[in-house]
Amino acid sequence: MATIGTDIQKARKILVNGGLVAIPTETVYGLAANAFNEKAITNIFKAKNRPSFDPLITHIADATQLSELAAHIPTKAIELTTQFWPGPLTLILPKTDKISDLITSGLDSAAFRVPNHPLTNELLKQINFPLVAPSANPFTYVSPTTAQHVADQLGDKVDYILDGGLCTIGLESTIVSFTKETPKILRLGGVSAEDIEQVIGSIAIQTHSSSAPEAPGMLTSHYSPGKPLLIGGIEQLAAINKKKKIGVISFKKAFPSYINSVLAPSGNLSEAAQNLFKSLRWMANQPVDIILTEFVPNHGLGRAINDRLKRASSPQAGKASK
Ligand code: TXA
Ligand code: MG
Repeated sequence: MATIGTDIQKARKILVNGGLVAIPTETVYGLAANAFNEKAITNIFKAKNRPSFDPLITHIADATQLSELAAHIPTKAIELTTQFWPGPLTLILPKTDKISDLITSGLDSAAFRVPNHPLTNELLKQINFPLVAPSANPFTYVSPTTAQHVADQLGDKVDYILDGGLCTIGLESTIVSFTKETPKILRLGGVSAEDIEQVIGSIAIQTHSSSAPEAPGMLTSHYSPGKPLLIGGIEQLAAINKKKKIGVISFKKAFPSYINSVLAPSGNLSEAAQNLFKSLRWMANQPVDIILTEFVPNHGLGRAINDRLKRASSPQAGKASK
């Protein structure tokens, strides 16, 4: 079982030697390896049981490192890095040969992000290679937002877990692709679409999945809590399902007659985002047959929350997590 701690030197040594370390970021915990070590990269896919067609994000210490990893950086991409890095934004850019095809699943573009967490940023400063890191959960499961979440599911597959507490944002980064003439949002996340538009003007959002989605990891079966999750009016859903043991994940109203987790009693969307994955994991371990939930207001971070709820409620979600 991996130890959990805050020892940056220990994390650094393991990564230098090709091992795997779970790292805290402001979005979710990542399962990190040396981006210049192909054996270590392969081990990430094995540990997560992740198909090799789903490419990884390369985490860097600051935007200057892009110059040797990205073949071309459009002006709008630079504007976004200036505004949002370090932070919950990932950019897809054409790659140089320094980025292995194992990272990008053979694509000629790669995903880059400067995360924003004191422990991980210090670690990135102390190593002379970038870190590839997918979210530190088994493929298709809910992303981890605490060190304990990582230990619960990947504890025997990772060499060390760097404990940075509860992730402040709680949803993965927003992904913006610059591989075509006009940029596109491929995943809604910690930076809202509205905030991105403030900087670079109107932008298309293409987050739906197909058999060959543009962000290959955006399959409808992601974010599975392992139990059926129904979205709608909670009272109506409860009436229809009254023979079942019901758990309720509500936005701001409490439902005391059921096992209930309220995402944000204040109605604050940032608070709801921070609690969402924690709440799905907690509910998955309660004695309930089904989880009832409701959409949150569909603006700002609310759009990313609703996106995750839809994916978690996919009929395939439960099956895919097995
Ligand atoms: O917040 C985050 O982004 C977290 C933390 C750890 O940084 N990471 C994360 O990684 O969510 P992961 O692997 O769970 O999701 C990365 C997404 C996947 O949907 C993948 O398909 C997409 O990024 N992606 C990576 N490289 C890509 C590329 N070249 N083109 C299109 N999509 C790409
Ligand atoms: Mg993930």
